[in-house]
Amino acid sequence: MGLFAIFATIMANDNKLQNIIGHCKEYGFVFQSSEIYDGLSAVYDYGQYGVELKKNIREYWWKSMTQMHENIVGIDAAIFMHPTVWKASGHVDNFSDPMIDNKDSQKRYRVDHLIEGFAETLAKEDGDAILQQMDQLLAASDFAGLKQLIEDRKISCGVSGTCNWTDVRQFNLMFSTEIGSVAEEANVIYLRPETAQGIFVNFLNVQKSGRMKIPFGIAQTGKAFRNEIVARGFIFRMREFEQMEMQFFVRPGTQKEWYEYWKETRMKWHLSLCISPDKYRFHDHVKLAHYADAACDIEYDFPMGFKEVEGVHSRTDFDLKNHQQFSGKKLTYFDTDINQHYIPYVVETSIGLDRTVMMILSEAYEEENLSTEEKQDSRVVLRFPPMLAPIKLAVLPLTKKDGLPEIARELIDQCKPHFKCFYEEKDSIGKRYRRQDAIGTPFCITIDHQTKEDQTVTIRYRDSMTQERIPLAGVKDMVMDKIKMF
Ligand code: GAP
Repeated sequence: MGLFAIFATIMANDNKLQNIIGHCKEYGFVFQSSEIYDGLSAVYDYGQYGVELKKNIREYWWKSMTQMHENIVGIDAAIFMHPTVWKASGHVDNFSDPMIDNKDSQKRYRVDHLIEGFAETLAKEDGDAILQQMDQLLAASDFAGLKQLIEDRKISCGVSGTCNWTDVRQFNLMFSTEIGSVAEEANVIYLRPETAQGIFVNFLNVQKSGRMKIPFGIAQTGKAFRNEIVARGFIFRMREFEQMEMQFFVRPGTQKEWYEYWKETRMKWHLSLCISPDKYRFHDHVKLAHYADAACDIEYDFPMGFKEVEGVHSRTDFDLKNHQQFSGKKLTYFDTDINQHYIPYVVETSIGLDRTVMMILSEAYEEENLSTEEKQDSRVVLRFPPMLAPIKLAVLPLTKKDGLPEIARELIDQCKPHFKCFYEEKDSIGKRYRRQDAIGTPFCITIDHQTKEDQTVTIRYRDSMTQERIPLAGVKDMVMDKIKMF
């Protein structure tokens, strides 16, 4: 690809991201947190449609894990945990990123992001070479080498434009606060940076109370907090976000097989979202986290390029062994099949819910030109898989009179215990269809005068925009069939 073509692609993708962000605000999906106070960087609120979309994705993940796997159960652990948990997990000592500050602008960068951003401006071969060099330096924790690389390639700060850099240093990403009143002895505690530790410390509670036999899994969804230094990319990188994690406990020595099993199973889950395989790739970690003996990311082709949406990690017995050591409580399992006590090994799947929302939005968002020779026309449509759409069915009486709203209301009453519906009688039918396209409603039903005569309605399909007449009595079952998760 020539330089001009590369530049045009970057601009188009950047525009797409900006358009998605604007659309999310305009249609009540995602708002900047505390916007009336000029916002809080890398913190976002979900609006009326965003919250439904997020809930549906969470539910699909939850059912895929806990309902479709008989040997996986869920828990909901507290955000606050005993401070020693984070010592045992290694987060106090190791949960940090190499950072560098520009002395002129005072702006702080994550070193890998600074180099990745620079690599994107280069031709593919040169970009790949610099990323490979960066990976090797990161794997060796060679901070002097990373600084040298930044200086040699004259990578400059986006704000000051200079290459006047500090040394590369490590910054811990955990937020801390205090528990207990000032009068009592206050203890520093952390906001959890991952949900996984709530699962590890409950491993034996669940195993014993649920009479679980290895291999088995524990799943959890919930908030996690990280003091991310680079706050960009919309809901891709947030300081407060939600994770959907599952820890799968296995017999030592079998972790490699289970790691492969979960890589494949999670990729199948992604493909079940009607996203084409060429939008995904695996990225094996070169620098392994302090707890892993194998790890990879599932990356999706976001508007800003391929980025991690999920991690699959073979975490060995690192966490349980350390919790056993720090707590002084035995965390072994007795395997009756082989008559042995051992600390299980763990394979983890960890996916960001907000990142998945962003993936689904990126995939669904389309600006469609509908112009014909006679008429200029266009629409923005969100082509969500019906099971994930915030609103499943819009019911639109053609007019506000002649008993049509009453029929529409009756249909809504019949459907709303089963799925989320939307009623609207204002504006032309065309405008109402466009508004439903913009929030991704897969089916619109129009009630007209013919409905009164023959009990049929017009159904309009979001994706094809085609319309047909179907019996009023069959609407609920038809929608229920189309939004089935399994
Ligand atoms: N328990 C393992 C763990 O937390 P991770 O790769 O650090 O692993 C897992 O995080 C997932 O959480 C990522 O793949 C990503 O989807 C999501 N995630 C991590 N940091 C995030 C952030 N700052 N904002 C949004 N999502 C984030």
